[in-house]
Amino acid sequence: MELEQKIQSYLNNVASYFKKSKSHSIGIDFGNNSLKIVELEKKDGKIKLKNYALVEMRDDLSEKDLRLFSGQIVLNILKGVSMKKKDFNIAIPSHSSFITLIEVSGQTEAEIKGEVEYAASKYIPVDLSEVIFDWQIVEASSILSAETEKKNERKISSKTKTDEISKKSKVLLVSIMKNVSSEFQKAFNDNNLSIDSIEVGCFSLQRSLLCKDDKNYLIVDIGKRITNIIGIYKGQLLFNRNIDLAGDQITKLMAKSLNVSFDRAEKLKKEKGFESDSKIVVKNILEPVFDSIMKEALDDLEKFEEFKSNSIDQIILSGGTSAMIGVKAYVEKKMKKEVILGNPWSKIEYSKEIGKNITAMRPFFAVATGLALVNLLDD
Ligand SMILES: Nc1ncnc2c1ncn2[C@@H]1O[C@H](COP(=O)(O)OP(=O)(O)OP(=O)(O)O)[C@@H](O)[C@H]1O
Ligand SMILES: [Mg+2]
Repeated sequence: MELEQKIQSYLNNVASYFKKSKSHSIGIDFGNNSLKIVELEKKDGKIKLKNYALVEMRDDLSEKDLRLFSGQIVLNILKGVSMKKKDFNIAIPSHSSFITLIEVSGQTEAEIKGEVEYAASKYIPVDLSEVIFDWQIVEASSILSAETEKKNERKISSKTKTDEISKKSKVLLVSIMKNVSSEFQKAFNDNNLSIDSIEVGCFSLQRSLLCKDDKNYLIVDIGKRITNIIGIYKGQLLFNRNIDLAGDQITKLMAKSLNVSFDRAEKLKKEKGFESDSKIVVKNILEPVFDSIMKEALDDLEKFEEFKSNSIDQIILSGGTSAMIGVKAYVEKKMKKEVILGNPWSKIEYSKEIGKNITAMRPFFAVATGLALVNLLDD
């Protein structure tokens, strides 16, 4: 299968048209700090963790380099672990994708499709030939599918029909950059590996960290270079925002303020976090950094009519920086909301041997686990 078809079929998966169920899969998250790989197997309806690994990446690799060398890197890792499978689920970072919520007035799926395709050129900020896009209906209450409409034609009174027509529907438009996905594709193929599915990382986080319910969540994934803020309204992903403020920036500010090397600051950050002996670190660095991350999230919420900060049921923290001592308590105090540290292993069983360090690993593995769960979950 060509990559384009694969992406299309993934995007179709987003809209849940097309589901192939699997019994074994591997997810790989190419992070700026480290690559995470998770292998899962499904037996008798239970999903089991077979293997996982975290490999630190060289600091001088740009994201593009990482894509170009991705096949080689994975091949080297496979030599060290016993994974036989040669096809993988990978994520495109959210900043190489565009996710937008749009309103359409069409009533049938066919009408909406036409409208979305027309609108895509307006909402996707690059030439449409450079992206692959698909869409998903978010608020389906006012939508009649072509089929239902035909079936119900006689039953629908003219009044009901007018009411339906006055409603607008919301559609989530998802697109990814073709060049980003084809660089991964080439790198994998050149090393006799293949990509089974590709998706935007925010969907992987949603899959591993949330159960299906109709609550409102903010997922905040704070990694090395990037913080990813994801808004889930009534169980549906509504927005995904990336900011260039994460763990690295904290370490750099600490190194400067304490007048120590980057490595020393990194060590202090990990050892002490919010319990740092330096008041300056806490008051002038940590608190302002987490305040601005949360402010970005709140600014995003302002763009939605219904989804406001007071409607958030829970904030879920993920990513290596969420392992920092005192982060959960600080965010809780600041946001006055329930905050939890995300657990990507909640849908997965694991043996005692494999599970030794697994709790400490939770912050790092949400994207890779969500990727490995593609086509393994029943719903
Ligand atoms: N105990 C800890 N306390 C504070 N920060 C930590 C801790 N452990 C790891 N980190 C930070 O987490 C970051 C790495 O997190 P993660 O592995 O989620 O990033 P990544 O996914 O590789 O990068 P990105 O998401 O930016 O591409 C580093 O900045 C590291 O300093
Ligand atoms: Mg990451």
